[in-house]
Amino acid sequence: MGAPPCHQCFGLGADLASMPDAYILGIESSCDETAAAVVRSGEDMMSNVVFSQIAVHQQYGGVVPELASREHLRAILPVVRKALDDAERTYGDIDAIAVTQGPGLAGALLVGVSYAKALAFALSKPLIAVNHLEGHIHAVLLEEKQKGNRELRFPVLSLVVSGGHTHLYLAEANDSGWAYENVGHTRDDAAGEAFDKVAKLLALGYPGGPVIDKLSRRGNPHAVKFSMAHIKGRPRQGRSRVSQSRASGETFDFSFSGIKTGVLRHIESHDMRAQIEARRSALAGAKAPTADAVLALCDQPTLDLIASFQRAVVNDLVVKTLTAARELEVATLFVTGGVAANSELRSSFEQEASKAGLPVYFPSRPLSTDNAAMIAAAAYPKFLSRDFAEMNFSAEAGLVLR
Ligand code: KG4
Ligand code: ZN
Repeated sequence: MGAPPCHQCFGLGADLASMPDAYILGIESSCDETAAAVVRSGEDMMSNVVFSQIAVHQQYGGVVPELASREHLRAILPVVRKALDDAERTYGDIDAIAVTQGPGLAGALLVGVSYAKALAFALSKPLIAVNHLEGHIHAVLLEEKQKGNRELRFPVLSLVVSGGHTHLYLAEANDSGWAYENVGHTRDDAAGEAFDKVAKLLALGYPGGPVIDKLSRRGNPHAVKFSMAHIKGRPRQGRSRVSQSRASGETFDFSFSGIKTGVLRHIESHDMRAQIEARRSALAGAKAPTADAVLALCDQPTLDLIASFQRAVVNDLVVKTLTAARELEVATLFVTGGVAANSELRSSFEQEASKAGLPVYFPSRPLSTDNAAMIAAAAYPKFLSRDFAEMNFSAEAGLVLR
């Protein structure tokens, strides 16, 4: 890292025009979405099927791992068949099967990995193991390639911000694909987890991100002051120049458990309990309450609290990411993962990155949250470099991205 920014053919230093088409079937089951997709040569999304388990987990206010595994088992076969049908391909047309190896819920990952192995064995096709976080990064690339954007300037700084992760990766391309260095991560809750937990505290339903995103537009983001943690620490032993001589001793790490406690204190000190419990009972019967239905049950102080929470989280993500981008002298910014669907996060990144003269790319909303097109796209460089998985590879709940 640290070399002057270079232009590359969106992550592959190869002449792709001379490559034959490759049809990759992607399979994703790391959390609460069972997904399959067919992507041609890492750039043409021919199908993208996502079966969401939200309805199953909603009543518990979060993902229940055992239920997630059971639902994946039920859904995986029809989801894969539909992905092939939508792409107008048969099993025989597929050149490789890519599957999420981790990180994620162990039992949920095992369903996808076991199914992909069985399919690869039965069809005598190569198997490619993909890191879920690399998938989120490649969701951005897939769509940029689809739009015909083939120029990418390195180094790239990627913020992967979802229900399970808030990670900053410095990325560069090499002959066999991409190499990553983690330059910042959450020390406790992920940003999406904070959205989900605050929504649970306030009885807004599950998942919290989309509803908080909508309700925030009705509140005053300056009404409640939250202070975000600035985390000092020992230098990381990485390849990048951030390794790490910041005079302040501050890292690019995040922490979102404090703001959740801040919201709880605000609820208690402002006597909001009764209204929250009334909302909880009113919504208990509804299967999938709309944001408008929740809005009708919120008074102005609640909307102000929600908007202030979102503004504080968004500011923290934007400020730390842009500080890292500046200090690491990156040429391009990616923001991806479920929370990248957030409207305020997008507009704030667009505004601040433009001031800093940095191009910033996001996936479309459907590709921000978990899907298998991103897994098939991330597998393509591995397919080209014949980086195939052995049949005895296993799912890894704590898989690290390098
Ligand atoms: O990437 P994803 O589908 O799954 C994980 O890998 O975690 O992300 C799901 C997370 C949830 O925490 C959800 O609340 C959050 O993304 N999310 C949002 C929005 N849409 C989804 N957070 C904020 N604003 C949104 N619009
Ligand atoms: Zn994800």
